[in-house]
Amino acid sequence: MYFCDKYRIVEKKAIASDIYSYIIKCPEVAGIVQSGQFVNISASGHTLRRPISVCDFDRENGLIRIVFEIRGEGTREISRLREGDYIDMIAPLGRGFSFLDDAKHVALIGGGIGVPPLLSIAKHYGEKAQAVLGFKSFDKVILANDFAEYGADVTICTDDGSSGFKGNVLPCFENVLNNEKLDIIYVCGPLPMIRAISEIAEQKAIPCQVSLEERMGCGVGACIACVCKVKRRDKEMFVRVCKDGPVFNSKEVIF
Ligand SMILES: Cc1cc2nc3c(=O)[nH]c(=O)nc-3n(C[C@H](O)[C@H](O)[C@H](O)COP(=O)(O)OP(=O)(O)OC[C@H]3O[C@@H](n4cnc5c(N)ncnc54)[C@H](O)[C@@H]3O)c2cc1C
Ligand code: FES
Repeated sequence: MYFCDKYRIVEKKAIASDIYSYIIKCPEVAGIVQSGQFVNISASGHTLRRPISVCDFDRENGLIRIVFEIRGEGTREISRLREGDYIDMIAPLGRGFSFLDDAKHVALIGGGIGVPPLLSIAKHYGEKAQAVLGFKSFDKVILANDFAEYGADVTICTDDGSSGFKGNVLPCFENVLNNEKLDIIYVCGPLPMIRAISEIAEQKAIPCQVSLEERMGCGVGACIACVCKVKRRDKEMFVRVCKDGPVFNSKEVIF
């Protein structure tokens, strides 16, 4: 079930270079949204909507939060909306992450603008979560304090070493692996990062859920623009990232 409507932006913040956080009042969406689902936003002057993950939600107050980076004309147009303006969106969409009831240690591995959908997982697991978050440089670092406020142990890495550890998330993730017996891993970010973490998860037999990005048309499963290849019951098949994902079990994705 999803809604298509215009909702009021109650808070707009620039949180890093070209990266914005919007809190949106949308009680019916906030009431049913799950971690890892996304919203499809209309950008003025553009036919296709832009998919953006739900970063956090507050059911009691009817709020959702999105965090997005300006990547092109569509996201630039969306970034021109101001506090008090109405944002036109279809939400909530897709299949989100699932949680392990008895997990003691979980890892959240995020890269760049793949970090936002992991925040509500950190909220769910609190101190059981180890977050390893990678960015290009210090001016792109986002949400580190938000993860820490939810109780997660946070490690930051940057490609150029301008904040946290120098390099990508893999060495820091391996450090987590050596110190904790992980019950589950959640990953979102660039494809090479997702692939590398999925391979390690497979070798160590740790369940791993990945959130994939594909270019989308309709966002609701009708146009087949967003397919990716998976293996289910020994058969290779194409599934729709917008409707069957964006979250998948890493074992079934054919990278
Ligand atoms: C499920 C999902 C969740 C996402 N969550 C976030 C998020 O939380 N924060 C965030 O900043 N970005 C997120 N993205 C990426 C975001 O959708 C793109 O950055 C955005 O669509 C770019 O639009 P544009 O017009 O600015 O760029 P342009 O490059 O001008 O876009 C041209 C077309 O390509 C599509 N497109 C371009 N890049 C992507 C991409 N990476 N993924 C999908 N479609 C793309 C656009 O939607 C548009 O139709 C997500 C993408 C998906 C699929
Ligand atoms: S975007 Fe249309 S089927 Fe996924």
